[in-house]
Amino acid sequence: MLNKIRLWKNQNNSSTLRDKIEEIKKLPVPEHVAIIMDGNGRWAKKRALPRVAGHHEGMKIVRKTTMLANNLGIKTLTLYAFSTENWKRPKNEVDYIMKLPEEFLGTFLPELIENNVQVKMMGYQDQLPGHTRRAIEKAMEQTKDNDGLVLNFALNYGSRAEILDAVKKVLNDHNSGILKETDLNEDVFSSYLMTANFKDPDLLIRTSGEIRLSNFMLWQLAYSEFWFTDVLWPDFSEGHLLEAIDVYQKRQRRFGGI
Ligand code: FPP
Repeated sequence: MLNKIRLWKNQNNSSTLRDKIEEIKKLPVPEHVAIIMDGNGRWAKKRALPRVAGHHEGMKIVRKTTMLANNLGIKTLTLYAFSTENWKRPKNEVDYIMKLPEEFLGTFLPELIENNVQVKMMGYQDQLPGHTRRAIEKAMEQTKDNDGLVLNFALNYGSRAEILDAVKKVLNDHNSGILKETDLNEDVFSSYLMTANFKDPDLLIRTSGEIRLSNFMLWQLAYSEFWFTDVLWPDFSEGHLLEAIDVYQKRQRRFGGI
């Protein structure tokens, strides 16, 4: 009897989720969603587990979120997985996070390929351990012809460094006569950033109750809608993503107009 009730509950929940997905699809969905996946450490602490257990659980949520984003027709999903400041964490934690792309892609790459997902990365690749870089490069290579969702990992990414590097490249191109001052505008400057080929995020989500950007896409988020939740990343469900998009769809974006 108990099992029957459980089965009914599960079926009922998944049909509610399906209904919600269909509802959301009736209105335009954000083309680019960026997520600051925060709260893994606290999730683990609450369970008296080591912090890395939270990161491992967080990795599973990356998969669920990617699949739903793809299903909804979102074009780009950018996930902040490791910042240029995260190297300050204890070595064992950094080493663990650096192994996650391998584990994630080792397990889910076939599923990503099957679902037409294209894997990309933005961030400073050179400082990543070889095994991390190779896992990502392999995934990028094997998914480069896919034209579904772009799953963009922000790994060893920092927005201030990105902007400074863009300024240096602009100066170089100016000094060598490739770029005239009069030709430099916002679109041209954007093309010097790591996100050159992406539209700016329409929606930014941050989990875990922190209300800050933590050096994430400072230029690109100028006109994005923000959605913050107290939910810790390992507890972030499909329902939460749908809720964020529902709120987004109800907002009026004016881009400085009226
Ligand atoms: C922030 O939570 C989270 C990170 C720095 C790591 C995020 C990484 C993942 C979710 C896994 C990524 C998966 C792949 C495939 C790359 P925190 O540790 O700062 O949490 P806290 O604020 O509660 O301590």
